[in-house]
Amino acid sequence: MEPLVVVDHVNKHFGELHVLKDITTTVHKGEVVVVIGPSGSGKSTLCRAINRLETIDNGTITIDGKKLPEEGKELAKLRADVGMVFQSFNLFAHKTVLENVTLGQINVRKRSKADATKRAMELLERVGVANQASKMPSQLSGGQQQRVAIARALAMDPKVMLFDEPTSALDPEMINEVLDVMVGLAEEGMTMVVVTHEMGFARKAGQRILFMAEGEIVEEATPEEFFTNPKSPRAQDFLSKILTH
Ligand SMILES: Nc1ncnc2c1ncn2[C@@H]1O[C@H](COP(=O)(O)OP(=O)(O)OP(=O)(O)O)[C@@H](O)[C@H]1O
Ligand SMILES: [Mg+2]
Repeated sequence: MEPLVVVDHVNKHFGELHVLKDITTTVHKGEVVVVIGPSGSGKSTLCRAINRLETIDNGTITIDGKKLPEEGKELAKLRADVGMVFQSFNLFAHKTVLENVTLGQINVRKRSKADATKRAMELLERVGVANQASKMPSQLSGGQQQRVAIARALAMDPKVMLFDEPTSALDPEMINEVLDVMVGLAEEGMTMVVVTHEMGFARKAGQRILFMAEGEIVEEATPEEFFTNPKSPRAQDFLSKILTH
């Protein structure tokens, strides 16, 4: 498999706090990597570093062979290659659903309004919210908003999609409608890095689990290996806590 995201000896501090400790991992094209671990272990920081929403102290991150640019146009381009969906719904509140999905295409990908609209409607259809296109985000349920956020990211034709706990702010009945879209993407071969506490998703769609604790990758294994035979005491402890919920 071809490497797509290469994280090499990356360190990150917030003041005194060492949040990413010598992180090295490679996400290959078409791979679905699920990142799990206790609160504060650095999962979000790792995702944000891959999208360069956070700077790193040292080490390198490359996306499809290109080192993360520092700023400017190159960075905007790179961000478009890396789709990101966050826990909190972060649609543009004053734009319609359709505009949310066309804006980046027009501004960054330089598509015509007609092309962008066509593509947006295909994607909204695909995530099951095409009938909401003219509404404002606040008029949608949380699950619908997250599906729009996924469509918005996909509209940029990203090389990789990062999901940071995309379902953890949702009411239980809306979790599956978002996970179903993600499973569909995984099945189609989208390269994905997914931070989640949804172990069903991790088993079903994940090809590799990264277990993080205190800023380190403590274990890297297939879901099967990880869930049936976690090697480290920290992973065993974490699993015993979440699986008994
Ligand atoms: N901007 C920031 N300034 C200072 N400290 C931060 C900042 N962002 C995160 N941290 C700290 O860095 C550590 C890692 O945070 P991070 O959000 O990456 O953890 P996480 O694994 O995503 O946790 P959670 O499961 O709660 O989302 C935490 O101790 C957090 O308090
Ligand atoms: Mg987090």
